[in-house]
Order: sequence, then structure tokens, then C-alpha cells
Amino acid sequence: MTILVTGGSGFIGSNFILYWMKKYPADEVINLDKLTYAGNPENLKSVENEKNYKFVRGDICNRELVDKLMKDADIVCHFAAESHVDRSIKKPSAFMETNIIGTHVLLESALKNKVKKFHHISTDEVFGSLELDDKSKFSEETAYNPRSPYAASKAASDHLVRTYFHTYGLPITITNCSNNFGPFQYPEKLIPLVVTNLLEGKKVPVYGDGQNIRDWLYVEDHCKAIDLVLHEGQIGETYCVGGLTCDMSNLGIVKKILRILGKDESFITFVKDRPGHDRKYAVDWSKIKNELGWEPVADFDILLEKTVNWYQKNEDWWKRLKSETFQKYYKEQYSDI
Ligand code: NAD
Ligand code: DAU
Repeated sequence: MTILVTGGSGFIGSNFILYWMKKYPADEVINLDKLTYAGNPENLKSVENEKNYKFVRGDICNRELVDKLMKDADIVCHFAAESHVDRSIKKPSAFMETNIIGTHVLLESALKNKVKKFHHISTDEVFGSLELDDKSKFSEETAYNPRSPYAASKAASDHLVRTYFHTYGLPITITNCSNNFGPFQYPEKLIPLVVTNLLEGKKVPVYGDGQNIRDWLYVEDHCKAIDLVLHEGQIGETYCVGGLTCDMSNLGIVKKILRILGKDESFITFVKDRPGHDRKYAVDWSKIKNELGWEPVADFDILLEKTVNWYQKNEDWWKRLKSETFQKYYKEQYSDI
């Protein structure tokens, strides 16, 4: 079987390719990735010379290229996206191009080439925001209420994917997952930013009052969920995927990382809040548990420490990423630090 993975050189995509090639060594994997600032071929160094792995640098908006690759694909696993909320607030256009137009190009081509399955990776951010004291959780039934350009572009892509099922019968599935963490995450996101800043002896920026809550999912647990949905998920269905943290604030996570690295709280700097900052996410993953038997196995504290250790051991990897271009982004984003 041949699986076409889009965005396979990014954080989750590369973890997924490594997971898939280990578990299904007989499969052919094609990775279509534009290599934006977030794409890093180094993540896949360990498999780049394998006969069943092919890397194609290209844009999912390029119809000709997508058509050519789609001809060989049995299934598609679509990760490619602009993924950082802060960047979407400053420059939304690329989010509309890749996340909406790019997804549409893939859908058209998948339909034309009769792929057996099109799996779309989406996010819990499409559901909007909960209040801090709200005990409810996002589920497959929650109405969409995106509140950032990134979330709106992902919501649009989800709608398009469902449309291709209902209108044209394309065999699709969707997963909406919560905040992933683990190895190979670009150091613009909260956990790798905090860890690498501390390893560099720098302060860590916390937005607003630090009380915002995310639902944290270890990336390997996410890969296992996608694997299950690809093999056993019901066509046309959506599955919410979340982790095991219960209402853990950003400040709480930063303090845990400080403890792991033996640093005191003087490293914390409160900076101006993200505009429209969603207060809380919480995901109800009972559907995928009840129907497919998936559940996160990961204990957050143990895996957070494992993740911190990974960044400690892989300094070369993240130091290269925190180069000149990243510093320019950092200065603009955190002008008050
Ligand atoms: P990432 O930013 O680390 O990687 C995105 C990858 O897509 C990069 O390799 C980039 O080069 C590639 N890409 C971007 N534009 C492209 C284009 N036009 N054509 C081809 N390739 C392109 O993102 P991630 O964190 O790995 O997220 C992967 C997917 O999972 C995204 O769809 C994101 O919306 C979704 N998601 C992420 C999280 C999270 O916590 N990271 C949570 C929920 C959902
Ligand atoms: O919920 C799933 C989403 O999780 C994915 O769809 C997105 O692709 C992914 O980027 C992530 O979005 P968030 O905005 O939640 O992740 P981020 O790491 O940017 O921020 C996590 C929380 O930490 C959020 O409340 C903002 C806060 N934060 C973030 C940064 C970068 C800070 O306080 N300081 C920071 O410097």
C-alpha cells in the first residue's frame, strides 16, 4: 500500500512517518512537503535512504504536482498546514492559501484519482473557547466557533473535507486533536520555546495571566489514534482526540518545566496577551475510545520530562532552528520581553 503524507517534515507529520514506517515496513511512504520555515528534513534523517520512503519538495496548492503524486497513492494522510496561531494573527494570507486552497486541491485530486481513504488532521481550535470554570468539553457534536485566522482556516478545511464526502462520496475521515507535545516540535510553540529558552539561560514569555488552559496530547498517542482511524474509522466520521491533563494552566506547565530543569521562577516573564486568546480547551475523546478502543496511555509528567530530556540531548537540532530568521520573528513577537 502507498500512503501519501502531506506536511510530513513538520512536527506531527515526521513523528507519524517514523511511527508508520516502523509499524508497517512493507508500505510505501510519499512525503509531500513545501519545507516552509516549519518543515525540517532532519526530522526524517533516519529513514531518508529507505527504499520505501520518497520525499518530494512541493506545495499542496500545486495541482499538477499533487495530481502526479496522487496517481500512486492508495491513501492520503493530510497534515500540511500553516499551524501557528500567533503567525496567523500577524499574516493570515498563507493560512488561507495552504489550509483552505491547498486542502481543496488535494480533495479534487483524491476524488479524480479514486483514493481509498483521505484522512484530514484537524484541531480542537475549530470549536472556539471554553470559560475557565466550564466543566464541559469539546466533542464531535460541538458547534464550530473559530476565533483566530488559523482556527477559521482549519474550520473551513474541515467543512470542505466533509463536503467531499456528502456531495461526491469521497471516503474521508477527520480527527480534531488537542495540543500535541513531544520531539521535533518547532521552538515557536509553548513547550519547546520554554524548554529551549531555559536551556539558553533566557526568560520565558507567558501570555496574559498564564491561566489559559490547553489539553495536552503526547504526539505518539496522536499517531496511534490516526493509525486506528485510518484502519478502522468509519468513513465520513469525525473523531476528537485529546490527552490526560485536567485543567492544567500554561503557568502550571511552565513551572513544571522550571522544576525539571532545576530553575527558579524568576525566569518567568508575563508578556502582553495574544489577541483573542482562547481561554480554555478540553476534549472529550469518548467516541474514539468507545468505537475504536483508543485512549492516551501517556502520563503527562513522565512524558513532559522525557520531552525536556529530548531537547536537552538534541541541542544541535533546535539551535539550528533558532537562527537569524527565528530571532527576527522572536523580536517582533516578544517586543516587550
Ligand atoms: P508544523 O507547522 O510543525 O508542520 C507543518 C508542515 O507542513 C511543515 O513541514 C511545512 O513545511 C508543511 N507545509 C506548510 N505549508 C505547506 C504547503 N503549502 N504544501 C506542502 N507542505 C506544507 O505543524 P504540526 O504541528 O506538525 O501540525 C500538523 C497538522 O496537525 C496541521 O494540520 C495542524 O493544523 C494540525 N494540528 C496540530 C496540533 C499541534 O498541537 N501541533 C494540534 C492539532 C492539530
Ligand atoms: O489546540 C490545538 C492547537 O494547538 C493546534 O491546532 C495548533 O496548530 C498548535 O499550534 C496549538 O495551538 P496553541 O495556540 O494552543 O499553541 P501554542 O503553543 O502557540 O500556545 C499554547 C498556549 O501557551 C496558549 O494558551 C498560548 C500560550 N503561550 C504560547 C506561546 C508561544 C504563551 O503563554 N507564551 C508563548 O510564548
